[in-house]
Amino acid sequence: MPLPLAAATAGANPVGTSSGGSVPRHVAIIMDGNGRWAASRGLPRIAGHRAGAEAVTRCLKAARASGLEYLTLYTFSSENWRRGPAEVADLTGLLRFYLRHKVAELHSQQIRILFVGEIHRFGPDLCAELARAERLTANNTGLTLLLALSYGGRSEIVQATKAIARAVMRGELDPDAIDENVVSRHLLTAGIPDPDVIVRTSGEHRLSNFLLWQSAYAELVFLEELWPDFSEASFNHVLEIYGRRERRFGARPA
Ligand code: IPE
Ligand code: IPE
Ligand code: MG
Repeated sequence: MPLPLAAATAGANPVGTSSGGSVPRHVAIIMDGNGRWAASRGLPRIAGHRAGAEAVTRCLKAARASGLEYLTLYTFSSENWRRGPAEVADLTGLLRFYLRHKVAELHSQQIRILFVGEIHRFGPDLCAELARAERLTANNTGLTLLLALSYGGRSEIVQATKAIARAVMRGELDPDAIDENVVSRHLLTAGIPDPDVIVRTSGEHRLSNFLLWQSAYAELVFLEELWPDFSEASFNHVLEIYGRRERRFGARPA
């Protein structure tokens, strides 16, 4: 089963706010382009994933410096299992390495780590390590880092639907009381505000099953650069782009 998140503290973004040059609360990133980065250098794909992991460190540094509250990183999609055992083993090996060698540092930086996705698919050992990292950092008050692992937006909505149906069958929930907040509370991201901005690197213009419900009013930013080239300056560039956007949530322009 996916790990439950902390108790709900925040809902969707309020209607009618504009970014107004302010910093976003929640940035979500589709970290794409590792394979192409490696191929352009004549290297194996794993070299691109390793370089991508270093880009995560730079991204975290910039995110913390900006005062961001929530950063979600699409690390492994529910469809990425299709890549075959060798690449999946490379990716899970890298994840294991970072859990063992980086979590203490993230903890010392007051980062709270959460995982969203069908993490049981990684097997009991890795699952236990993920749970340990969540427990260790649970009371940290700095940046909340959500890693989407074996995450798929459609499957998340399906599991929320099942949970709501069960609550109705137990007589705990009136079907007429089901509203957007009820659905949000049953998602893996319950308690986390919707992303203000979703970034995708590598020039691809699609969501690839990422945060389908939560992205309803996210600002979308597509960058040409490949994820391993992502720098602190790239992160700050995203903040600048966001600051220039006008968010209307369906209301009349200001
Ligand atoms: C993103 O880079 C990392 C994962 C999806 C795990 P890719 O591996 O998708 O790189 P490209 O898209 O093939 O360049
Ligand atoms: C999306 O990238 C998933 C992650 C970045 C983890 P993909 O490379 O898997 O997406 P598609 O297949 O190009 O849509
Ligand atoms: Mg890709």
